[in-house]
Amino acid sequence: MKDFIQGLPKVELHLHIEGTLEPELMFELAQRNKVNIPFSSPQAVRDAYQFHNLQSFLDIYYQGANVLITEQDFFDLTWAYLLRCREDNVIHTEIFFDPQTHTERGIAFETVINGITRALDQAQSQLDISSQLIMCFLRHLDEEAAFETLEQAMPFKDKIIAVGLDSSELGHPPEKFARVFQSAREAGFLTVAHAGEEGPAQNILDAIYMLGISRIDHGVRCVENTELVRQLAESQMPLTVCPLSNIKLKVFDNMEQHNIVDLLETGLCVTINSDDPAYFGGYMTDNFVAVVDAHPISHQQIAQFSLNAIEASFIENTQKVTLS
Ligand code: HPA
Ligand code: ZN
Repeated sequence: MKDFIQGLPKVELHLHIEGTLEPELMFELAQRNKVNIPFSSPQAVRDAYQFHNLQSFLDIYYQGANVLITEQDFFDLTWAYLLRCREDNVIHTEIFFDPQTHTERGIAFETVINGITRALDQAQSQLDISSQLIMCFLRHLDEEAAFETLEQAMPFKDKIIAVGLDSSELGHPPEKFARVFQSAREAGFLTVAHAGEEGPAQNILDAIYMLGISRIDHGVRCVENTELVRQLAESQMPLTVCPLSNIKLKVFDNMEQHNIVDLLETGLCVTINSDDPAYFGGYMTDNFVAVVDAHPISHQQIAQFSLNAIEASFIENTQKVTLS
């Protein structure tokens, strides 16, 4: 089964590039940029990754990002992830980046995006991996900051397919960003949003109706509203589910309790993704294997996750046919 999963062509739709910062690279960049980090070794960093909810993860994740300073750092970060994609037979990836995590520290927007896109271009030519970039607004910051970020993105519009919404879901509902998402849509961006990870099913409905999203990131709490589940099955609105993340952040107690296979069998367009693999203990293949180890599931169903991801991706429709 592991060999089947390994060889299966995969498409990743929920991946935060800052969440691919492995402790070894964190150390290397800290030295290169003379940034102090409160750890004595990469192993000490790994030992600190004990999370009890989303916020406890985010606190350490934003701290880790402090070592990213130069365009080369963003290139190195992204390139390391793309090499992991090749190992896992990920043929297409749609990557989130959080500009505000960096601009708030005085790093220029263009430093971030130029480093990332240089690696993406190199992956297309050298690894045959295609990609898209999704710019996320940090929902714990205010609407004005999101508008400023949208403004900063405008000169790079052709490099960004969509805008998204991440960070602390509780206390920061979709409606807080309804106006900025409307402006983003008017400017030609597609939209996605994290919803129903820690927050209630209502956040999923609000993200659909107030933010005009094309996909729901996480969405696993949809099961708390039967009518919503029926609607998601009918509309085939994709859910980018992140199994290992959900266990690490205690959205479910263990993988046996995870609802991803139930959702697949109910006919929803669910996909498997790695979210922040350096923090949650696994890349794409690891996430597939973790699901399969905990749930009886056929080869056909495993392949369905990949077919769903192709369908849910922002790849041109003509190209989707070739990939399927
Ligand atoms: N949820 C919200 N914000 C995030 C996540 C997540 O899983 N990962 C990185 N930022
Ligand atoms: Zn996420």
